[in-house]
Amino acid sequence: MKIAVLPGDGIGPEITAQTLRVLDVLVRDGLKLEFESAPVGGAGYDASGDPLPAATLALCEKADAILFGSVGGPQYDALPRPQRPEQGLLRLRKHFDLFANLRPAVVYPELAHASTLRPDVVAGLDLLILRELTGDIYFGQPRGVRTTESGEREGFDTMRYTESEIRRIAHSAFQAARKRQRRVCSVDKANVLETTQFWRDVVTDVHDEYADVELSHMYVDNAAMQLVRNPKQFDVIVTGNMFGDILSDEASMLTGSIGMLPSASLNANNFGMYEPIHGSAPDIAGRNLANPLATILSAAMLLRYSLDQDEAARRLETAVRKVLAQGYRTADIAEAGRQTVGTREMADAVIAALL
Ligand code: IPM
Ligand code: MG
Repeated sequence: MKIAVLPGDGIGPEITAQTLRVLDVLVRDGLKLEFESAPVGGAGYDASGDPLPAATLALCEKADAILFGSVGGPQYDALPRPQRPEQGLLRLRKHFDLFANLRPAVVYPELAHASTLRPDVVAGLDLLILRELTGDIYFGQPRGVRTTESGEREGFDTMRYTESEIRRIAHSAFQAARKRQRRVCSVDKANVLETTQFWRDVVTDVHDEYADVELSHMYVDNAAMQLVRNPKQFDVIVTGNMFGDILSDEASMLTGSIGMLPSASLNANNFGMYEPIHGSAPDIAGRNLANPLATILSAAMLLRYSLDQDEAARRLETAVRKVLAQGYRTADIAEAGRQTVGTREMADAVIAALL
């Protein structure tokens, strides 16, 4: 099984390197994985003037799954949009039609204190945000900046969803809920936006095929509030690309650190790209400070969803739980005054927990 590894920028190279060390333990134990790396994002731009170099895309096409680090950095912010690091990520999502973005937010018992919310509000939290990833205002045309008839400049983007795009993500949500508590909350802004009223109608229609799953609807502003008021009311949240981007960052903080959250982006054939939901954190890059656990947990999702290696996935997840229980903490998840470990030492602890 071939895995394309795209470390990217900032802390991306460190966290993917440590994740590969962890995966090597599974390889030594007989799992047949082959890794090949290629530049993406700013690293792609530096290597060949393109955030998604043709050779990188070719490597991904031959692979069974993609492990992605993170992209972006201040040195690339002034580039024209097509050359910016984020375009590498957005083009990969679109190219492979990775429409279903799974962003689980789980609070580990040992980390309930690390949240800015009271431990009783977040302890035991286990929610899944299912974000549609290839449509919406992210990709809708037309977009741009134009000069109006009155001579004033105007910026514009277009929010759009086709029925088939909504149907397939709704099916994914109901199917995911069947493996959990069987509750789906669809988040929209149907009181204002036509596109999302249509979203609500189509999700309701698809629900007819899933009588065993409970469906509710919530406006996005209320959902943003409910996530900090009482996050445990949610099981699966399904929403569009833009709202999902925002709500998933919010949900990540319930868990204490964005450095803990993995994600999977899947197409209809379960081909997928796996990445931590945090960014490239240029401020701490190259200093052995980043938390590698979100990437290690992303690798677990890769094993489960794209390679059908549930056993190996569970082994990794159990090892992560174990190092947290043993007290290992990178700076982002440590209580004040507590001893911390670096990126490499955290990976060492996971490796030791696997042996
Ligand atoms: C994410 C990120 C990306 C997004 C950026 C880097 C383009 O914020 O994966 O959530 O907006 O989708
Ligand atoms: Mg985001």
